This record gives sequence, structure tokens and C-alpha cells, in this order.
Amino acid sequence: MQTSQNHHPLRVGVVGVSWAGQRAIEAFQAQPNVEVVAIADPDETRTSAVTTKYQIPYAYADYNDLVTRDDIDIVSVATPNFLHAPVALAALQNGKHVLTEKPMAGSLAEAEAMVQAAISAGRVLRVVFNHRQRGDVQVLKRYAETGALGRIYHAKGTWMRRSGIPGLGGWFTDKAKSGGGPLIDLGVHMLDMALHLMDEPEVTTVSAATYDEVASRGVGAWEGSRRLAQGSHFDVEDLATAFIRFQDGSTLLLEASWAIYGRSWDDFGVTLYGSEGGAEIKVVNYSYEDTLRIFTDTAGAPSVIAPRVTKGEGHIGVVREFLAIIHSGEWSAHVGREGLRRTQIIDACYRSAVEGREIALADLASQI
Ligand SMILES: NC(=O)c1ccc[n+]([C@@H]2O[C@H](COP(=O)([O-])OP(=O)(O)OC[C@H]3O[C@@H](n4cnc5c(N)ncnc54)[C@H](O)[C@@H]3O)[C@@H](O)[C@H]2O)c1
Repeated sequence: MQTSQNHHPLRVGVVGVSWAGQRAIEAFQAQPNVEVVAIADPDETRTSAVTTKYQIPYAYADYNDLVTRDDIDIVSVATPNFLHAPVALAALQNGKHVLTEKPMAGSLAEAEAMVQAAISAGRVLRVVFNHRQRGDVQVLKRYAETGALGRIYHAKGTWMRRSGIPGLGGWFTDKAKSGGGPLIDLGVHMLDMALHLMDEPEVTTVSAATYDEVASRGVGAWEGSRRLAQGSHFDVEDLATAFIRFQDGSTLLLEASWAIYGRSWDDFGVTLYGSEGGAEIKVVNYSYEDTLRIFTDTAGAPSVIAPRVTKGEGHIGVVREFLAIIHSGEWSAHVGREGLRRTQIIDACYRSAVEGREIALADLASQI
């Protein structure tokens, strides 16, 4: 066991300080005995606004200046996807613990390199899966753990946007920078939620298809002030669908879209089918109320339970768990393997879509 560094406040640097980076700053600042001491982002207008808003002493344009500071214990990464690996590697090599935004990396090879670096450095590496912290997910997780659903043999995870391409023409829609479209961006959240609720079954095969039927024509660019089009470059999918088989015989259907002619505006959810009961989380336009239904039998009659749930903690819960791991000193069990498993599955889905066949995870098995 390592000794934790909890004798002094843990000092944090955040790299990339747009929407996600600011959620990280707020989540670290919400914890006791933690200081956010530096940020790095080449956008000087943004760093200037963020240092003022959150009272952060140091700002850099180059993340190397942040990760080489001796007084920083933790680096939080919230850059575009293609920079997660280079920033995380630099931070780990400088002895920092790393919390990176989802998806873990833009490619499987990068995710493997990150895990290897965490092992070599003897530091914690963890990926932000904030939707798992929702109140409805936490209640359903506890319910499933009681065994009341029996064996969960099939599940669905979907995140469907009618019109929600994040910044058409920016890094999100450029495969070299993002690693993919809605599957790696939104689908990874639902994959995480389903695997978490199903108690991490081991994947054997995936079969997937991806489409670009509407988005590259500009249909489905995000409206209003959310994330406006910055151009027209689009070489990722606008819809992905995948069928995932697990070693225990259970299965998962995963679907994600940024742009589709369909009923959902921006809806996500998970459905679980168990041998003793079922459950559904359905989130419409990021709602937090009345999202969970549990299907059971009461005295032989089909019944529906609608638990009253709280909003949950999002990034604050992610950061609290991350800090608890650091304080525990049990770092070697937390070197990014959970994020790597999700990256392997997403990577296999994209391969399956390109090759038009089912892919066995064993064929991609990493040595890590
Ligand atoms: N967990 C969630 O709910 C959630 C939500 C949104 C985004 N994200 C993830 O967070 C990450 C960032 O997303 P975003 O929406 O904030 O993106 P964004 O494009 O709004 O912001 C990216 C920021 O990174 C900065 N950046 C670019 N190059 C950099 C470099 N070399 N060094 C430091 N900073 C650099 C940009 O200037 C910008 O400020 C992505 O990986 C995304 O998938 C997660």
C-alpha cells in the first residue's frame, strides 16, 4: 500500500477549461482540503475569464508548463479527445494522478499507453463517467444489488439526439481529433451506465453498424446557443447501433445518434430485463425527475414502482470517488482498466461497422 498525500491539501491542475474543464474545477473546489492551483488552455480569453471566475493563481497556454510543476498532485484533463492521451502521459510521467474526461482516449492504442503509464508511474488513472452519479442510476444500482431483478439477461442503452451535432465542423466531427461520432461521445456514457448496472459482465463479441445519412448534409446541427456550427467538415457517424454479447449469455443493445429523424430531441436511458424484474431509466432533455421505473409483480399482479430520486452529484461525485481512491493509498487497482474496457468495446464496434462482421474482443485483447 502507498501512503496517501493527505497530510497537505491536494493540489490540482486542470487542462482544457471550456464546459467540461469548468465542471472539473467546480467539482474539485467543492471538496475539502483540495486546491485548484493552475489551469492550461491555449485560449487566452478563456483562461483569463476562468482564472478570475474561480480565483485560480496560475494559467498556462502550454500544458507542459502545468504538468511539470512540482507542487501539483493531480491533473484533470478536459481537452478535445485526441489530447487526453498526450496530456495524461505527460502528467503520469511527472508523477501526477490523472482524472480524464470521457472518452478515455481517441483510440485503443492511446488508452493502452495510458494504462501502461499509470502502472509504470504507480499513480491513479480514472475516467469521468458522471452520468453514473445520477440519483436514478444510484437507486437502480442499489436495487439490482439486492438481487430483486434476478439475472439481468438483456439490456438496452440509448442516447438519441434529433438535432445535436456538437459544433459541426469543429473537433467533435473530425475523426482524427474525436475518435468517432455519437458512439464514442454519447454511447460511451450509456455503455458505462449499462455495464455498471449489469455488474461489469465480460464482453465476448460486438456487431455494429454506423451511418452518416443526414449530418454531413448539415441536418441536425445544434440549434440555439449550445454549440454552433464552426464549418462543415464531418467524417464520423451520425448514428451508431451495436449488439454486444457477454460471456454469461446476457446481451446489450447500444444506440447513439447526434442527428436523426426521430421522436427524441435529446433523450437517453437504460432498460434492464431481469429474470425476476425489470427497470427503465428514461431521461428526456436532461430531466432528473420521474425518470426511473421498476417493473415487478405484487401478489401475483404486474406492478410498476416509481421511486422518487434525487438529482445526484455528477462531476462532484466522480471527483469525490477519485479523491477517496487517492486517500486510500490503494492506487494499483485504479490504473484506468475500467476506461480501457469501455474503449476496447467502442473500438470493436467501429471495427465491426467498417468490416461488416461480428468482432470477438479476444482478437483485440491487450497485454495489459
Ligand atoms: N462528462 C461529460 O458530461 C462531458 C460533457 C461534455 C464534454 N465532455 C468531454 O470533455 C472534453 C472537452 O469537451 P468540451 O465540451 O469542454 O470541449 P470544448 O471544445 O468546448 O473545449 C475544449 C477546450 O480544450 C482547450 N484545448 C485545446 N487544445 C488544448 C491544449 N493543447 N491544451 C490545453 N487545452 C486545450 C480548448 O481551447 C477548449 O477550451 C471532451 O473530451 C468531451 O468528450 C464530457
